[in-house]
Amino acid sequence: MNNQITTNEIKLPIGRLAVCAVAALLAIVLASLAIPLLQAHDPYISSVLSLTGDPVQGSAIFQMNCAGCHISFTDSQVGPSLCKVSQHKSPIDLIRQVTSGRTPPMPQFQPSPQEMADLLSYLEKI
Ligand code: HEC
Repeated sequence: MNNQITTNEIKLPIGRLAVCAVAALLAIVLASLAIPLLQAHDPYISSVLSLTGDPVQGSAIFQMNCAGCHISFTDSQVGPSLCKVSQHKSPIDLIRQVTSGRTPPMPQFQPSPQEMADLLSYLEKI
């Protein structure tokens, strides 16, 4: 009798812990699935992503607005090189980087969806 009670007492918290762990894991998985979906529902981002960018136009936009900081032949380059930037930043991250102004001194840009799509197609090529 005594034995049974102790095993029940031990099993119960472990069972609860397992349920909590599974619930927490599920929450994390769902959140990581939902966040990109929510971001894609931003009307600006979804219209950029629905357009086909022209990398030649994108290159011209880049030269005018971005190259001053991101391409430099001297040591005084302000921003990092954007070579292969699309390998560590998703299209949504790149759009946010350009339009949010969250990382000063990089300014906040407000390109039209087509200009942003052009820029994105250029950034994905370099
Ligand atoms: C005034 C200088 C400046 C201008 C102009 C500028 N940037 Fe930046 N940019 C920066 C700096 C500085 C960072 C690094 C910010 C940080 O992470 O703290 C950065 C970061 C970035 C990153 C992230 C790089 C990475 O490796 O994660 C991207 C992408 C980017 N810029 C794109 C652009 C584009 C596209 C334009 C033109 C529309 C632009 N930037 C114009 C200064 C600038």
